[in-house]
Amino acid sequence: MPHIIFNRKVGATYYKMRIRCPAIAVKAKPGQFVMVRVTESFDPLLRRPLGIHRVCSENTTAKTKKSPSCIEILYRSVGKGTSILSKKQKGEFIDLTGPLGKGFSIDKNLQTAVLVAGGIGVAPLLSLAQELKVRKGTTPAKTNLIAFLGGKTSADILCRTDLKKLGATVAVSTEDGSSGTKGLVTDLLSGFLKDLPPEKQKGLCLYACGPLPMLHALSGFAHARNLSCQVSLEARMACGVGACLGCSIPTRSDGSRLPTYQRACTEGPVFDSSVILWNDPHLSAPGG
Ligand code: FES
Repeated sequence: MPHIIFNRKVGATYYKMRIRCPAIAVKAKPGQFVMVRVTESFDPLLRRPLGIHRVCSENTTAKTKKSPSCIEILYRSVGKGTSILSKKQKGEFIDLTGPLGKGFSIDKNLQTAVLVAGGIGVAPLLSLAQELKVRKGTTPAKTNLIAFLGGKTSADILCRTDLKKLGATVAVSTEDGSSGTKGLVTDLLSGFLKDLPPEKQKGLCLYACGPLPMLHALSGFAHARNLSCQVSLEARMACGVGACLGCSIPTRSDGSRLPTYQRACTEGPVFDSSVILWNDPHLSAPGG
């Protein structure tokens, strides 16, 4: 039965929990998630979908060649469910299912991975950086890792040190200018892409997670420059396994003016940005 190794506050409203769950840890891929039952009562009734932040062993953050035994989740306490979760203690059992969903894909010709995170959106991207670090020197070889982290204030900038330890070059922006460049992370990224010589755009992929307007803007940048772009979408989820259709995402369909709906929990949560119908009113972010 999975149990908690630690559950730490890592910011004003942010928490990191390490859970011993070898069966999930050995199978987890970057971008996948777990469904967590936060209480044994029926309130709140639904499990919470939370991205897998990292796989590791019990006493270290590194992903070793040996089978990992733990996963970490990084979450924000914003509602009843996550508030209950934030109070859980070391040693407590926790009911979770996973790993679920389709995560990020890594092309064998990937040369530069550009991670773009809005606030807590960095949570699933760290597991991707970790995977790229482990693969470095194998496939794909010599991947450059660049991370753009954005937030409203410096309190929303997470994992800067972790990403640097994984070999990433990190750039930060905040809306109030309290950390890094003042402004939106999309402005920072736009400047980077503008200065990028065409030969460096070859083999570059954008990987992003964060608020919908940020992801929409990124999708536009990628389209204009013919870049690959994978986005991890947050969606309301009830079952997490494709049964309830509560997490449907409107996507482009060939030959029809009507959207095709894909389930964030099974066909996603990671999608190629070019298939998403960004202006469709049915595309909306989940509440707290
Ligand atoms: Fe039920 Fe996706 S959450 S189908």
